[in-house]
Amino acid sequence: MCGIVAYIGGKDAAPILLEGLARLEYRGYDSAGVAVAAKGGLKSVKKKGRVADLAAVVPARFKGTSGIGHTRWATHGEPSDVNSHPHLDGSGRFAVVHNGIIENADQLRAKLESEGVVFASETDTEVLAHLVAACAKETDELEDAVRAALSRVVGTYGIAVLDAEHPDRIVVARNGSPIVLGIGEKEMFAASDVAALVRYTRQVVHLDDGELATVRADGFQTFTQDARATAKQPSTVDVEEASYDTEGHAHYLIKEIHEQPGAVERTLSGRVDERFATAHLGGLNLDAREARAFRRVKILGCGSAYYSGELGAQLIEELARIPAHAEPASEFRYRNPVIEADTLYIAVSQSGETYDTLAAVQEIKRKGGRVLGVVNTVGSAIARECDGGVYLHAGPEISVASTKAFTSTAVAFALIALHFGRVHDLSPADGRRICAGLKALPGQIREILADEDRIAKLAAEYAHNAGMMFVGRVRGWPVAREGAQKLKEVSYVHAEAYPASELKHGPLALIGPELPTVAVVPDDELVEKNLTTMGEIRARHGRVLMVGHTAPDPKFAEDAILIPKNEPELDPILLGIPLQLLAYYAAVALERDVDKPRNLAKSVTVE
Ligand code: AGP
Repeated sequence: MCGIVAYIGGKDAAPILLEGLARLEYRGYDSAGVAVAAKGGLKSVKKKGRVADLAAVVPARFKGTSGIGHTRWATHGEPSDVNSHPHLDGSGRFAVVHNGIIENADQLRAKLESEGVVFASETDTEVLAHLVAACAKETDELEDAVRAALSRVVGTYGIAVLDAEHPDRIVVARNGSPIVLGIGEKEMFAASDVAALVRYTRQVVHLDDGELATVRADGFQTFTQDARATAKQPSTVDVEEASYDTEGHAHYLIKEIHEQPGAVERTLSGRVDERFATAHLGGLNLDAREARAFRRVKILGCGSAYYSGELGAQLIEELARIPAHAEPASEFRYRNPVIEADTLYIAVSQSGETYDTLAAVQEIKRKGGRVLGVVNTVGSAIARECDGGVYLHAGPEISVASTKAFTSTAVAFALIALHFGRVHDLSPADGRRICAGLKALPGQIREILADEDRIAKLAAEYAHNAGMMFVGRVRGWPVAREGAQKLKEVSYVHAEAYPASELKHGPLALIGPELPTVAVVPDDELVEKNLTTMGEIRARHGRVLMVGHTAPDPKFAEDAILIPKNEPELDPILLGIPLQLLAYYAAVALERDVDKPRNLAKSVTVE
């Protein structure tokens, strides 16, 4: 979704802003713009389309050592040059870029218009530029004008404000939409995502909600909405710049699929205790007594994060025998949920920014619940809002479709389940079995990836069907759901996931030669039942591609992708990998925009 980058220092701002915006492209956007404080006032260029389209129209004489830039994902008003950010006030003194949604924009716009303000765009953000200008009439300080403007705003925002009369500073503010400061040598940066900064600095400061900052070339000051100074400690971002490069792969998606052995190794690193057959997860902030006290676990996330939560719920029930259930955070937050003292809530998010998940966490905390995070992005809003949790350490995920974060989340849940299991009744022998299974995962993922060429051929064949059915039972069911999600989001092929057990209660009516089925069939106690379902599909001339452990009789499936066997509880983690390759190569065969599927954004930071 929208992205912000700001620079102030001794260099020309425009190339740095454009480079930063290019690093934010992965988030999804439809237009981009930059403004710099130049001699004689602000200069601004904005354009519908890609950052490269913007760069092509930035004039050579676009000079200034402070500036702000933005990638926009349209919410108020269509994607267009005029609706792109930055937005300027009528006098052209202030430029504003904004992520989030101003909920009372219509009322504020009507009030400003009644005072004679003329609007150029349809956006909610332009209201902010005019409000800052109106408030600046009462004060000489940019910071005071921004605070006064924000005090009239209801909604979420991450903003950066540039002032032609104070080109020595940029004011940024955060409420529900992230802002991170980057500390350089006699230069400072600000952005909505560290991806825009890592080329220049690893020293960062995350703003909290309700916090503002004045950023100058030689440093920064942070303060609250009521002008109280706050003390912030810089932290070091542990991310390789190469993570933001395809490094020779055709797409980020296939690069990230191939990064999974390393991602899983990092998720496991230092956490598997073979001696005591358990997992060490210090970040949970729960001692053994507290971990024993929970009677239920509720897992919350959106999209693929929710499906990985379903895998997590199964693992916790199987290994710890604690009733566990996953629910979409986007539904949970709106249904006035009952928060129970003896339920442990776990929020799952790759980005740590997903607004629905963050809102669910805040709802739980408002009602006194205990909530942990399973999060990839260190220092993100959800990570900081939770009472503790587990970082994935999967590395930055750029492609809109989640793959390595999904797999690492499932692995993190296996660690949590092992830990909870061992403070309950999981035997040391079973604990050792799971430890060994976890350690085998990276090598087994490599084995599955070695089958890439054959899966690519199958994907090219199946891609040309109008739709696909995905079925699985119990352990295979969340895998089937995620497989269908992956296929539809990157290839736009309609995919429906159903529990195999439910097929004959309705969707069997759809089955025929034109609707092939992917059947997720681990070698577990349900294998015979799954084969029966596949037989029912074949009897109706439906083509079946089985993903499992043992080659099926051809009467049950025309095609099969076979993967190495792990422990039954951990098999679902591996069964998802071929389905990622299937989706990727189907998208390639159909020539889709693999890393940036239409209508989707990497981080959904609005409701
Ligand atoms: C995954 O492929 C999707 N792009 C999407 O469902 C995603 O998992 C969801 O929006 C949640 O994102 P998060 O993990 O960053 O919270």
